[in-house]
Amino acid sequence: MDHLWAQVDTYFEGSFVAEPEALRRAYLAAREAKLPEIAVSPAQGKFLGMMVGISGARRILEVGTLGGYSTLWMGQALPEGGELVTFEHNPVCAGVARANFAHAGLADKITLRYGEALDSFKALVGEKVAPFDFVFLDANKNDYPVYLEWILRLSKPGTLIIADNVVRDGQVADSQSDDRSVQGLRTFHDMVAAHKKLDATALQTVGIKGYDGFSLIKVLS
Ligand code: DHB
Ligand code: MG
Repeated sequence: MDHLWAQVDTYFEGSFVAEPEALRRAYLAAREAKLPEIAVSPAQGKFLGMMVGISGARRILEVGTLGGYSTLWMGQALPEGGELVTFEHNPVCAGVARANFAHAGLADKITLRYGEALDSFKALVGEKVAPFDFVFLDANKNDYPVYLEWILRLSKPGTLIIADNVVRDGQVADSQSDDRSVQGLRTFHDMVAAHKKLDATALQTVGIKGYDGFSLIKVLS
């Protein structure tokens, strides 16, 4: 099925996804630097950008930059005066991403915080930054539960949280899985489901990134 999924992604990319030149360049730079090829697809990147536009987000937090491909899709969709903060703990990824932001002319809107995500979360809470409108969670899957707690401290009613890779070839439905990522995702979803101030759904996706999915979580008033 992977082959057919890729064909359909190519078809929709041809129809709808005019990948901006800076995004193409960022993709190639990440590949050149041999970063893992696990960034979102062009169609998914455009989806994230459209969600930023539709939600009217002005302040975005991303957890897990990689080479900055998803970051750029969201960043280019921000209005004038908008800001995006992205966390990355791998120095090679951080270097590639910073160069990509500069090449795209988005370095003034995007701030990369290099270091462990927990340290960056603590720093932002300590700095009393304004809450974020939109969060893209795309880091180590086993850390999603603890990251959710921190994200909620940096959110407000109306904040939209999108979590990547929540299906993992369907493994998420296996309560007996001994995969730590799967258990992390399941705990994350249990926390979201039990939280009175969160509303959520999840969508399964197929395409050039295989079989996976997004959770969409809204912070209620
Ligand atoms: C992996 C991580 C991701 O964020 C992703 O989009 C795909 C795969 C991984 O760690 O395998
Ligand atoms: Mg991902």
